This record gives sequence, C-alpha cells and structure tokens, in this order.
Amino acid sequence: MKALLESLQPGQKDWDLAQAIDPARLPAHIAIIMDGNGRWAGRRRLPRVAGHKAGIGPVRSTVETCARLGVKVLTLYAFSIENWKRPRHEVETLWRLLRFYLKQELPDLKKNDIPLQAIGRLEALPPQVRRELESVIDATSNNRGLLVNLAINYSGRAEIVDALNSILEMARLDGSIGSLKLDEDTLSTALYTASCPDPDLLIRTSGEMRISNFLLWQIAYSELYVTETLWPDFTRTDLLQALVEYQKRDRRYGGLSAAPVSGAVKDGDETLIEALRSS
Ligand code: FPP
Repeated sequence: MKALLESLQPGQKDWDLAQAIDPARLPAHIAIIMDGNGRWAGRRRLPRVAGHKAGIGPVRSTVETCARLGVKVLTLYAFSIENWKRPRHEVETLWRLLRFYLKQELPDLKKNDIPLQAIGRLEALPPQVRRELESVIDATSNNRGLLVNLAINYSGRAEIVDALNSILEMARLDGSIGSLKLDEDTLSTALYTASCPDPDLLIRTSGEMRISNFLLWQIAYSELYVTETLWPDFTRTDLLQALVEYQKRDRRYGGLSAAPVSGAVKDGDETLIEALRSS
C-alpha cells in the first residue's frame, strides 16, 4: 500500500481513492474475468483482435497496482477451454499476444520479484506457447512478491474433474482406493490453485453477470464486483474503485455479521422463537 501511495500525487483522483482503502483489509487474492475486448474493438470499427491487443495494457497496469498495494495473488482469466470455439485467426492472435506479453514482461517480473504461474490444461497449448510459458514460470519461480496466475486453457469444471482424477490415480497407486473418502480439503489441495487462498474479490468487466466457468470451487464466498468498463479501458482507478466497494461489503460466510448491532435479537424474534419451540 505504501508503494502505491508513493507513486501517487495528493490531489489526484487515485490518491483520494487510495486514501479510502484500509490496508489492513485488502483482499489477499483478486481474480479477474477480463471481458469486453471484442466490444471495445467493435465500437471503434476495428477487428476483434485489436481489442485483445488493447487488453495487454490493463494487464500490465493491474499487475503493477496489485504489486504496489501488497495483494498476494492475482488470477487473470486469459483463455478458457471454450475459447477454442472462436475463429482460428482470433485464437492464433491470442497465442501470439500471450507470447509477446511473456517476452515483454519477463524483465519487469524479475525486477519486481513477481512469480508467474499458469492454471489450466497446459498440455493442450501449442508447443511453442507452452515452452515459452514454462520458461517464464521457471525464471520467476524463486520470486516472492505478488503471485500472478494466468488461467489459460482453463475451465472450472475441467479443473474439478482433473482434481478428482488425480485423487483417484493417487489412491489407485498407493492402494487406498477401496477406503477412499473425499472431503473439501482433499479436493481443494488437488486443484490447480492448491497453493493459493480462495479469491476474496472476483471482478468482471463489461457488465456481464456471469461466472463463465471460472474458479467454480474457489469463489464460493468471493465478493463479486461487476463493472460496465470494457477490459481495454480498465484503469488503476477502476481497480481502486473495486477495492473501495469491496471494503464496504459485510462478509458473513453464511454466519452473522462480525459487528453485531445492539439489540440484534428483538422482542418480536423472541416471541417467534418461543412459538416455534412450543409448536
Ligand atoms: C474476453 O473478451 C477476453 C478474452 C477471451 C481474452 C483475454 C485476453 C487479453 C486481455 C489479452 C492479453 C492477455 C494476456 C494475459 C497476454 P471478449 O473477446 O469475449 O470480448 P466480447 O465479450 O466483447 O466479445
């Protein structure tokens, strides 16, 4: 947080937003569905791929802001398993952009102590993309700052299926399959995100109210924030606004508010409870 404030000037809108954020209650993990690239391009009468190209800038600035804030994990939905249904030219452009991004960002990832990881069915990526991705993952694996997780060839359902299959395979190998009993922790630790806390905040750009097969297991209690801003227009200001909104939420995890209001049990409630007891 200190690093972010040092990069801002008093009087700037982002300065005021940053002042409104409590550093002690930052989300540890932010996940983002980067949506709206195609519409951004369409509104400018440009080909869809121009929207994806314009989407690289916000990836860079979001990583930078999260690192300066002291967020621990940032997960970005870059390519879903379902995205293979798009025209070949668009899919190939997305791979080209990913390779460009990896090459361009490696020095800054190293300089800023940022480890890069990827989640998804990486074995199905084009070999060149996979090699370059693995080489950046490797080159940044000893970094200890903000963890950037790129979800590539990812789908939440496929992740759960893969996790279950890996548990079954292990149990087959160690002979425990007959007595195998699953619980939530066993499944969580078999997911691609095993080493990460669940997202506290899920942001989706472009106004669509959908989860689109993203982190289905992990977002059970994430706070959702949807902005009309299209991904190529997503700025540091948008991110800070999302954080201000996040800090207004009362996260109850199915329980009661952490700050109970006085007189929480009202006379009427007691009469109702008594009536239920005696019925
Ligand atoms: C969704 O917009 C976006 C994608 C499918 C790709 C996201 C890719 C980037 C932001 C490019 C760079 C990213 C990295 C990590 C290098 P859409 O095409 O579905 O937009 P639409 O809903 O308006 O059609």
